[in-house]
Amino acid sequence: MTTSGTFHAYRAGVGLLTAARFPSGTVGEAQHWEWGVVMKHVKLGGLDVGRIGLGAMGMSHGYTGFGTDDAESVRAIHRALDLGVTLIDTAEIYGPYTNEELLGRALAGRRDGVVLATKFGLVSHAGGGPGHPDSSPANIRTAVEGSLKRLGTDHIDLYYQHRVDPQVPIEETVGALAELVAEGKVGAIGLSEAGPDTIRRAHAVHPVAAVQSEYSLWTRGIEEKILPVLRELGIGLVPFSPLGRGFLTGMVRSREQFAEDDWRRTSPRFSGENFDRNLAIADEVQAVAADADATAAQVALAWLLAQGDDVAPIPGTKRVARVEENTAADALTLTADQLDRLSALPSAAGDTHAENDRRLLER
Ligand SMILES: NC(=O)c1ccc[n+]([C@@H]2O[C@H](COP(=O)([O-])OP(=O)(O)OC[C@H]3O[C@@H](n4cnc5c(N)ncnc54)[C@H](OP(=O)(O)O)[C@@H]3O)[C@@H](O)[C@H]2O)c1
Repeated sequence: MTTSGTFHAYRAGVGLLTAARFPSGTVGEAQHWEWGVVMKHVKLGGLDVGRIGLGAMGMSHGYTGFGTDDAESVRAIHRALDLGVTLIDTAEIYGPYTNEELLGRALAGRRDGVVLATKFGLVSHAGGGPGHPDSSPANIRTAVEGSLKRLGTDHIDLYYQHRVDPQVPIEETVGALAELVAEGKVGAIGLSEAGPDTIRRAHAVHPVAAVQSEYSLWTRGIEEKILPVLRELGIGLVPFSPLGRGFLTGMVRSREQFAEDDWRRTSPRFSGENFDRNLAIADEVQAVAADADATAAQVALAWLLAQGDDVAPIPGTKRVARVEENTAADALTLTADQLDRLSALPSAAGDTHAENDRRLLER
């Protein structure tokens, strides 16, 4: 256990940490100071962000089986901002649309300093609607106007293609995004679950600031071929589902915890034998957490943060208390031994996505 002296204070209360860890006057220029709280910042391409972001999807989409609580979600967003989170992640498909609307309400009057990220490409506005990939320039034009309106803003800081569209050359998609950057509607562009060739081709048209892909202790497929390309090109990595969609926190012990319409019921790794085998992974994360005097969620995030200064995970939660817990991982430095134990974990049994959802993943 390396950090427990300072880290324990953070677990007990964020304000205490500041006093314990950063005496006044020691805040570096790469850090953010607000309400007495510091979070380390990293660069995604040229984009400066607090290194722990907030994924808003589950507030209105995917994991909502037990109901949504917009008032608590808004409080969670505000708490995140108070704790130094800047990167907030949504997409037009979340809901669809309702998640962007929620963020628009939450960020009214608090837009400054937020790095607002959203995604297009999984709603075909002239075609089949939600669930139909469409990254054509015409669809992007329609999508961006809708997102700007719902988010209540005149610019999107980071605009991602949600999935690579096999029907549209990436050069055309990025060409359209470059026009939006030139017009000031978009600050920086990103890709999600794109493969190495697509990333290179996109970056040759316009600099890509970030690639957002699933990456966590039990989903490490990007390490071999994608991460090296990001590093070569100076593109940041935004790991999504960094807590393994809740599993790595140790709080998910049975499939029956999920409501009937929870997305995770469709996921092979949350099913049957795979689920039971994967519990050993969550148990080992919990064991390292006990050693580090931290929670399993914090350990899962700290391992990601240890992968480099170009990595900014976006843990998702709709609860204030978990925002506090997750952002506190910024102060947790794992020992070499703890990192080794975590890196040695086996990959999850079973894919995250059912076969149909895997179609658009470039891995
Ligand atoms: N680009 C893509 O295709 C893509 C795909 C998936 C997700 N994303 C983005 O990535 C974000 C995060 O991913 P995710 O939400 O799928 O997965 P995640 O962050 O790995 O896990 C979220 C789940 O963990 C629970 N949780 C959060 N903090 C916890 C804690 N400290 N202790 C116990 N449970 C905790 C949440 O429940 P509560 O909400 O009840 O706390 C939720 O069920 C999303 O919000 C979305 O913005 C992008």
